[in-house]
Amino acid sequence: TKEGYPHYLLKEIHEQPESVFRAMGRGGRLLPDFGSALLAGLNLEKRDFFDIKKIHIIAMGTAYYAGELGKFIIEDLARIPVEVSDASEMCGMNPIVDKDTLFVAVSQSGETRDTIAAIQEIQQKGGRVVGLVNTVGSTLARMTDGGVYIHAGSEISVASTKAFSNQVTVLILMALMIGRSRDISLSRGRELVAELKALPGKIQDILDRGSELRNMAEKLKDYQSILYLGRGINYPVALEAALKMKEVSYIHAEAYSAGSLKHGPLALISEEMPSVFICTSGDYQEKTISNIQEVKARGGKVFVISNYKDSNLENLADEIFIVPGSDEAISPLLTIVPCQLLGYYTALALGRDIDQPRNLAKSVTVE
Ligand code: M6R
Repeated sequence: TKEGYPHYLLKEIHEQPESVFRAMGRGGRLLPDFGSALLAGLNLEKRDFFDIKKIHIIAMGTAYYAGELGKFIIEDLARIPVEVSDASEMCGMNPIVDKDTLFVAVSQSGETRDTIAAIQEIQQKGGRVVGLVNTVGSTLARMTDGGVYIHAGSEISVASTKAFSNQVTVLILMALMIGRSRDISLSRGRELVAELKALPGKIQDILDRGSELRNMAEKLKDYQSILYLGRGINYPVALEAALKMKEVSYIHAEAYSAGSLKHGPLALISEEMPSVFICTSGDYQEKTISNIQEVKARGGKVFVISNYKDSNLENLADEIFIVPGSDEAISPLLTIVPCQLLGYYTALALGRDIDQPRNLAKSVTVE
């Protein structure tokens, strides 16, 4: 049931503080003393962590964007190269499979045809596959050599939200677990465990300010098209945010890395084309701000999702929503939440069929 919420999408967005906590095994998957995590279902020995030379994530849609974030976080914390593939592009493409690569299938339903077909092909060639799946007992969960349930609970809305957050959370745990066996220090590991523990409360803080996003949605709803821009870890957030917007509101939304603006998309900027920037503190901050200036100078409206207070940024932005600060690795789990709500409230204002967008099915079981 919707438990008093008008739509499953809103209910599921609001369940995220609780659902990310379940992804952490209600704390049971965290090892605070060791600054690490434990994902027993992966069936990986400590030694395996040294032998893995590459991780190859395979998924579709939102799960694919979770994989893109996983790439960023695993490469940063565990220093293992990660490739992310669109499963539909892998089928019949003769994928390269070797014994030093760990394949990771990411899927909410565990029934996505393209992901299943790609995994079958990899297994046929002797590849080792683990699954990050939500639906217990699903086809992918049964096929893989090891796996971790993401424990998002049932997700009814076609647009995926809490499953995305739980996929990213489990990928962070995986990065922490492998990273602690290889590269990262005890103190850094402990810092990340503390950040993970604080996450549910920070998501709740954003949800409590949902009305601000409803107002922002009122200002976005009449545009034909919206650009989503971010650098580094914020680029996959922009990709997922744009997918949410187009899926539920039917407004054309497109994500680019902010750095690629000058290489083409800048030509689109005018009063009719607003941009949503994901701009967090850290390495990309200054460069992202100069991209915002470029858009403003061409008459484009700028909506900003950031995680720090700064008068320069606040003056530049036409609208700004600030999420609680966090470690960079955790920040996507915070910046995505206002973007999900922005999609929801825009669709609501436009009277869309929010839980069942036209032309889409919850689980894509055909090629
Ligand atoms: O069940 P899966 O996670 O394998 O599904 C993958 C995609 O079909 C899914 O994420 C889709 O993109 C969602 N509608 C996005 O909100």
